[in-house]
Amino acid sequence: MDSFFVAANIFFLLSLSVLVHGKIAAKGCDIFQGSWVFDNSYPLYNSTECPSIEKEFDCQRNGRTDKDYMKYRWQPSGCKLPRFNGVDLLTKLKGKRLMFVGDSLGLNQWRSLTFMLHVAVPEAKYTSERIGDLFKFKFPDYNASIMFFWNAFLVDITSEPKGRVLRLDSISNSKIWGGMELLIFNSWHCWDLIVYGNSTFKDMDRLSAYEKALQTWAKWRDSHVDTAKTKVFFQGVSPDHASKQDIESCMGKTRPVKYSSRPHPAELVLEKILRAMSKPVYLLNITELSDLRIDGHPSVYGSGGHSSMDCSHWCLAGVPGTWNELFYAALVQN
Ligand SMILES: *[C@@H]1O[C@H](CO)[C@@H](O)[C@H](O)[C@H]1NC(C)=O
Ligand SMILES: *[C@@H]1O[C@H](CO)[C@@H](O)[C@H](O)[C@H]1NC(C)=O
Ligand SMILES: *[C@@H]1O[C@H](CO)[C@@H](O)[C@H](O)[C@H]1NC(C)=O
Ligand SMILES: *[C@@H]1O[C@H](CO)[C@@H](O)[C@H](O)[C@H]1NC(C)=O
Repeated sequence: MDSFFVAANIFFLLSLSVLVHGKIAAKGCDIFQGSWVFDNSYPLYNSTECPSIEKEFDCQRNGRTDKDYMKYRWQPSGCKLPRFNGVDLLTKLKGKRLMFVGDSLGLNQWRSLTFMLHVAVPEAKYTSERIGDLFKFKFPDYNASIMFFWNAFLVDITSEPKGRVLRLDSISNSKIWGGMELLIFNSWHCWDLIVYGNSTFKDMDRLSAYEKALQTWAKWRDSHVDTAKTKVFFQGVSPDHASKQDIESCMGKTRPVKYSSRPHPAELVLEKILRAMSKPVYLLNITELSDLRIDGHPSVYGSGGHSSMDCSHWCLAGVPGTWNELFYAALVQN
């Protein structure tokens, strides 16, 4: 059972070495284990200064009035994160192409990173363009490209007379991302929507479908990627705060919560796949730390105004900025 039908409309619904007191700390520190602390020096950027932003992430402009959700910094328990340094990151990206590949949560993180870099070098030239599913943001002075390629399932979708078919065993878009120097994948959000959307599931639940697709992806990574040239990251599963019982669960929330509820089942699938791989993939293990941030979602201040509730994506500035700080910390280590 390597493929199954999906209704046509679903995909558009849309350790580390760390600086402690100026010194590089031991690699044993788990930067994903920690807590959120209020920090008045945040946010790292003001979204009004940024060249462009998807309406669904622009909570302040959409009418959200509280601001504390932008002022939390992630503090690992055992060490300190290096302060995000956009100039340093651009220097590291010189002559390189960084591509996010995935769904709208990848777009969320990519957009955040373009801001974080832009405000670090506000005078530097940049170009921004979208060609189909490919979003490109370039800094010509640094010869650095930061891209996002919309590919929600990673594996292929083909159009057939019967409808659109998700092919869990084929991954031809890897042609597009194959040559990049840095890759950050993600997927899950839309697998979740499959269940809510109108789709035909033939003898396969979405978690096992997800697992099969990730296996296809892992096989591609293990057999086709030149480890010397390309570093591969995977953004952990970003938690939704909308349960089926309580679709408005993130509404009106302005503070992080103390404990995250449970390991996310899709994250467990992802971790199992990554453990079995022969080539290294760095997991941006953001699931549990983001699960504490019920306050960080657009809720009614997303794209739909008051008619639609978004407890899945994240306001910018906000939580995806932390994901980028963690990504930066991972690069500093290597
Ligand atoms: C991800 O983080 C969670 C919470 O800190 C932890 O339980 C889990 O083991 C981590 N996963 C990996 C692969 O490190
Ligand atoms: C962002 O800038 C605008 C315009 O200068 C200002 O009104 C707003 O308060 C700023 N937001 C934050 C979070 O600092
Ligand atoms: C710019 O970066 C690309 C890779 O993204 C590389 O192929 C090219 O040689 C670089 N150009 C210069 C002038 O360094
Ligand atoms: C949605 O599901 C219902 C019930 O299974 C079916 O009758 C209908 O044809 C489906 N619609 C589409 C667009 O697939």
